Amino acid sequence: MSEQLPENKGPVARFLALPPDSVPKTIFVAVSLCLLASMVVSAAAVALRPLQAENRLRDKQVNILQVAGVYQDGINVADAFASFEPHVLELASGDFADQYDPQTFDDRAAADNPELSHVLADDPAGIGRQADYVTVYLLRDDAGALDKVILPLHGYGLWSTLYGYIALEEDGNTIYGLQFYEHAETPGLGAEVDNPRWKGLWHEKKLADENGDLQITVAKTVPAAGPEYHVDALSGATLTSRGVDSLVRFWMGEEGYAPFLEKLKAGDI
Ligand SMILES: Cc1cc2nc3c(=O)[nH]c(=O)nc-3n(C[C@H](O)[C@H](O)[C@H](O)COP(=O)(O)O)c2cc1C
Repeated sequence: MSEQLPENKGPVARFLALPPDSVPKTIFVAVSLCLLASMVVSAAAVALRPLQAENRLRDKQVNILQVAGVYQDGINVADAFASFEPHVLELASGDFADQYDPQTFDDRAAADNPELSHVLADDPAGIGRQADYVTVYLLRDDAGALDKVILPLHGYGLWSTLYGYIALEEDGNTIYGLQFYEHAETPGLGAEVDNPRWKGLWHEKKLADENGDLQITVAKTVPAAGPEYHVDALSGATLTSRGVDSLVRFWMGEEGYAPFLEKLKAGDI
């Protein structure tokens, strides 16, 4: 049966007079629902942004506490983190860049900013651009003496860029711990970088030998330099392991923290 629209009424009245299953009313309901849903999602995204930023910050702090070995379940993260001393470090000189506030300096944004970063000609870590400045954290003992330094590092694995921290003892050469807080390697394979047993292998390994030559290696076999420089590669994840090897060696080398580590070894920090 054809629909009889009242000719002498306005468009709204004519629309309202249509049966509920008419094409215009169906389209109207569908479009309205889409609009409503998108408004709810947008409002939720905006409203939750501060909470997300807070969670990201807490997650970063937990990771720094964990890699430095001071995290315990139930700990007040903000209080524990307050004992860490953040500094923005100029990589090339190994000096602290006090013109930048470490509380607000954004390492990732700096790596994308052409004024604060450079393109790497030699790029073993597969990061493309490297920031000239990064935020590092010092941990001092009760007497104020340096206990550990926590340095961010990142580089490409097999499927993703792995972001993490390495904690070094005050000698600037002994590894206390290494852990990644963000990556997209395969669970059970490359993602075994998160396995506590594998992370534990890094503890007390040395970066460089007595001559200052960088020796730390992630490999299936022990390097000639000796077992104190060797972390066993993940089985079934040679490519991720290779990525970790490259990124750790890159960040601990001349293009990374070497100038800063020299100052640390000289007791200048
Ligand atoms: C679906 C899939 C996911 C994989 N994910 C990873 C990975 O995250 N990291 C990795 O190193 N290898 C991964 N591999 C394995 C590599 O392709 C390669 O076989 C492996 O790195 C070799 O390691 P192995 O010499 O220890 O066996 C994956 C393979 C498949 C089929």
